[in-house]
Amino acid sequence: MSDPVLVTGAAGFIGFHTTLRLLQRGEKVIGIDNLNDYYDVSLKEARLEKLANFTDFKFIKQDIADKTGMEDLWRKHGPFKRVVHLAAQAGVRYSLQNPYAYITSNCMGHLTVLEMCRHTEGFKHLVYASSSSVYGGNTKLPFSVKDPVDNPVSLYAATKRSDELMSQAYSNLYGIQQTGLRFFTVYGPWGRPDMALFIFTKAISEGKKVPVFNNGNMKRDFTYVDDIVDGVLATLDNPPAKESVPHRVLNIGNTRSENLMDFIHIIEKEIGKKAEMDMQDMQAGDVKETYADVSETTAVSGFKPRTPITEGVPRFIAWYKDYYKV
Ligand SMILES: NC(=O)c1ccc[n+]([C@@H]2O[C@H](COP(=O)([O-])OP(=O)(O)OC[C@H]3O[C@@H](n4cnc5c(N)ncnc54)[C@H](O)[C@@H]3O)[C@@H](O)[C@H]2O)c1
Repeated sequence: MSDPVLVTGAAGFIGFHTTLRLLQRGEKVIGIDNLNDYYDVSLKEARLEKLANFTDFKFIKQDIADKTGMEDLWRKHGPFKRVVHLAAQAGVRYSLQNPYAYITSNCMGHLTVLEMCRHTEGFKHLVYASSSSVYGGNTKLPFSVKDPVDNPVSLYAATKRSDELMSQAYSNLYGIQQTGLRFFTVYGPWGRPDMALFIFTKAISEGKKVPVFNNGNMKRDFTYVDDIVDGVLATLDNPPAKESVPHRVLNIGNTRSENLMDFIHIIEKEIGKKAEMDMQDMQAGDVKETYADVSETTAVSGFKPRTPITEGVPRFIAWYKDYYKV
């Protein structure tokens, strides 16, 4: 019987899907989350209700930045030798409004997770969420893990890059096996209400104006959540070798850079309504284009994205209509 996996941010969008897949393949999972109100808490609770159908799942409300609470968790329910660390204050734009939330959850929280892993005998693998936003103002495309990433354009990106550097130091110092995953714009059922697909779908179905930044002149590598989970599990199962410094950073994207307007047209087609667009300037902290090179990820884990937006967007909209009774 394998030891339980700890998933942080289990009530979140990616945490929920990752936990579900781990349970479906027969793992025991302890999920933690502080259930903060950055977006609708009832959506987080509804995700947890679905996970509660599995007897091998246990949820504990816990803040990752609370050192004493995390030590208690490790003592009572651990020690955890495999950790999927997804809890964070997400969102680029909100980091301009509430920067302190990012330092607390993403920097102090990441350090606490690292400290717990460091003191765990026989620790196997920490897989943690970084972000494509670390590529910041880079113009060379596609974005490769070999590219320099010292030009973040948001505090969110700076905290994610800090996580990667803290992890590098901990692997150097203590030999902890770790993988940081730079996710590229994730979307899918149970998605986040602060993200473009959710905002566009809601506005179009309610006949409200759709805010479109940089006049729609943006490109994103949109990655379907099932592909993200494929990548998380494939890397979790293939930790870096123990020799040298066992820390690596990998991209998880769809390897296609899509025009924002094409993305909107798929949503319009699926809902059967035209969007009324409210063209706006580029937002501070945003980047114009993202595009993932996943060759290293494929080499170490076999990861390959499978879902085009023409399949993934309709699946999100079907979920949205069902969940919100539209
Ligand atoms: N969704 C994306 O497009 C995307 C892209 C790049 C990186 N990421 C990263 O992936 C991870 C998961 O993102 P998501 O989209 O599922 O976001 P999410 O906000 O849905 O999930 C994060 C969860 O973490 C919890 N959380 C936040 N701070 C916490 C704390 N201090 N202690 C305990 N729990 C805390 C939140 O309540 C939430 O449920 C995050 O690290 C995010 O930065 C996401």
